[in-house]
Amino acid sequence: MTGNHKLLFATSNIGKFEEAVNVLEEYGLAIEMVRIKRFEVQSDDLVEIAKISALFALEEVKNPVIVEDAGLFIEALNLFPGPYSSYVYKTIGLDGILKLMENVKNRRAYFMSAIAYCWSESEVKIFEGRVDGTITHEKRGERGFGFDPIFCPREGDGRTFAEMSTEEKSMISHRGKSFRKLATWLK
Ligand code: IMP
Repeated sequence: MTGNHKLLFATSNIGKFEEAVNVLEEYGLAIEMVRIKRFEVQSDDLVEIAKISALFALEEVKNPVIVEDAGLFIEALNLFPGPYSSYVYKTIGLDGILKLMENVKNRRAYFMSAIAYCWSESEVKIFEGRVDGTITHEKRGERGFGFDPIFCPREGDGRTFAEMSTEEKSMISHRGKSFRKLATWLK
């Protein structure tokens, strides 16, 4: 399957990469970041996006490769922004989400992570992770990336992801869960 090739992670998001390194090193697995020009597909389905992106990445790097696609799903907004999280983050951002959530009582939300591991054109394996939590009323914390300052995980102690260290976030995060599934399968 992986043979002697090292595992490549196609991403340009350093925050994601650091979280992946943090989890995989617990399993003695090394990973290398590879930036690929444009491979993001638009779809309503994170798994589909990750799958197609991984096949595209394999074509580029000619080595076993993983791609991860993640999104924030907010209950009161009919699961928006979901697969459009990246675009929403770049456009209306955290303040835009907080504005949409003004006076909204149901603040339940979750993050999903879908990893696609691809080692040949016909072989793609998917690993998923989810973390439930709530959208805060204000931004808190400086760490992490993306929507971390406004997401408070249910399993945590009231801090947002942006108030946690990478290790603390990875213990409970969607990405921590999906990467631990990948690591267990690889071992
Ligand atoms: P993508 O997987 O890079 O497409 O991520 C979609 C969007 O969700 C990006 O804008 C990220 O900022 C955001 N996102 C993904 N994972 C996380 C996370 O762990 N914390 C906060 N935001 C995230």
